[in-house]
Amino acid sequence: IYRKATPTTLPSFLLIGPSGAGKTAFLTLTERKVVAQTHTSTAPLAVELLLPEGHTPQSSHYRSPGDPAYERSRQFQLNDTPGHGKLRHFATTQLANPTNVRGIIFVVDAAAVAEEAGLNETAEYLHDVLLALQKRYTGATSSKGPKEIPVLVAANKMDLFTALPPHLVAQQLEKAISEVRKSRAKGLKDSGPALGGEDDSLDEDREWLGEGGEGSFEFAQMEEVGTTVTVQGGNVIGGDGVDVKSWYEWIAAQL
Ligand code: GTP
Ligand code: MG
Repeated sequence: IYRKATPTTLPSFLLIGPSGAGKTAFLTLTERKVVAQTHTSTAPLAVELLLPEGHTPQSSHYRSPGDPAYERSRQFQLNDTPGHGKLRHFATTQLANPTNVRGIIFVVDAAAVAEEAGLNETAEYLHDVLLALQKRYTGATSSKGPKEIPVLVAANKMDLFTALPPHLVAQQLEKAISEVRKSRAKGLKDSGPALGGEDDSLDEDREWLGEGGEGSFEFAQMEEVGTTVTVQGGNVIGGDGVDVKSWYEWIAAQL
């Protein structure tokens, strides 16, 4: 009864991130209130949900539970996307046309980013998502400017003892994204003036994430282009109990 193929008018949130991070596990937990076995996703999945009890939508702070407007404001849609490298076009398509998108939930395996390979893969994907948001903002033609789209970096799997704590997940990702943008810029230069001609330097500016100059990338630089990045830890599965409260709080703040 929840699953719909037709576009929704509900506020929606995009679940994005590398394969195995826990996107579908989070969707399933929110839908069924229990943790269920998941399999790697090969197609996107949209599910209509209610904000769980105990969290108040930002727009309903002055309403009381039971008020129809309050109940309506608890509805939202989660759009899960496959994280496999060959299936990311599903996510990029939704990013390119973010109708009704209130926010992006970028799910990270906090244990995987403790190792170089996992960190680099995650940083590359997050870099590309943030660059897409930046381009959307700077390329907007309307005088009002495009709507702001916040990003939650959901640092998942905090139950694992190898998981980095959220502040280190943030630090490591910022460092690794700094490297990604450097190597991307070098790639553009190396591909030479043959293609771009005089506009080369312009292209390079547009492909550069965040502030220019020598400094390193920081999530705070995304504020300039209408995106607030928040990093919150949690775990969808775990011996000592599930903890995704801070993610629901973040969703509630966007509703
Ligand atoms: P793709 O569909 O391939 O993009 O991956 P996904 O992000 O949807 O991952 P999924 O939700 O399928 O989870 C991958 C694996 O991680 C599953 O075996 C989950 O049970 C496990 N997992 C998810 N969340 C947690 C968590 O908080 N802690 C632990 N220990 N394992 C988790
Ligand atoms: Mg999945």
